[in-house]
Amino acid sequence: MRDEVILEGRDITKTFRGRLGGHPRKALEGANLRLCRGEYLGLMGPSGCGKTTLARILLRLLEPDSGQVFFRGEEVTRLRGRRLLPFRRRVQLISQRPETFFDPRLRLGKSLLEPLDIFGLPRDRERIRAGLERVKLPAEILERYPHQVSGGEIQRLSLCRALLPEPEVLILDEPTSMLDISAQAQVLSILRELRGACGLTCLFITHHRETADFLCDRVQSLEAPGIPPGSVL
Ligand SMILES: Nc1ncnc2c1ncn2[C@@H]1O[C@H](COP(=O)(O)OP(=O)(O)O)[C@@H](O)[C@H]1O
Ligand SMILES: [Mg+2]
Repeated sequence: MRDEVILEGRDITKTFRGRLGGHPRKALEGANLRLCRGEYLGLMGPSGCGKTTLARILLRLLEPDSGQVFFRGEEVTRLRGRRLLPFRRRVQLISQRPETFFDPRLRLGKSLLEPLDIFGLPRDRERIRAGLERVKLPAEILERYPHQVSGGEIQRLSLCRALLPEPEVLILDEPTSMLDISAQAQVLSILRELRGACGLTCLFITHHRETADFLCDRVQSLEAPGIPPGSVL
């Protein structure tokens, strides 16, 4: 069903309190976002306008001051601890800094088992092999450590890691901004292939209009709080 809203942020407000006498900083004011099942939605806006903050609130990694988050029509704003686990499995993050998902002391193959263990899924070799194939990496890479792979490879491994628990939604926060052009193109083409293959829903945060147009069905702009839409800065 194309129009089923799968993830929604409603009237989200967030101010970061200044510490040690610093000024409070309003990051979001009444932000709304609706992601429909199966769509790729681009989220754009100037640096500092609150895109990452909104993503972290939608992922339930950060508490909003007010507003609500819904997943498949159920409010998840106040879910905590074990009750959040099913949501954690189904809504996954791909970040600008994929290396933070991998313990530098562990071989990559070992790190890939982590999401399976967390969500109580079998350590199925076939699942991992198929996952690597989706992101076009050889099985041999599992023997290496994080510092022994390139930026593009570690981002594709983080994509593999996020997909292993079979999420319904991926939130990608500028996933290609740290990559060179050819690694960017590789990640974008994998993301485009995935939509056909597994009907994934994606929220894709990016600075680049061309990237959003290449990948997304629809693009939403986020305005910085206190700046009326359409103002000339
Ligand atoms: N943990 C934090 N503490 C204080 N201020 C923060 C924090 N995280 C973000 N901010 C501020 O909130 C605003 C929005 O940040 P962010 O969501 O990262 O923007 P974007 O991702 O659109 O560049 C910025 O002014 C930023 O400096
Ligand atoms: Mg950001």
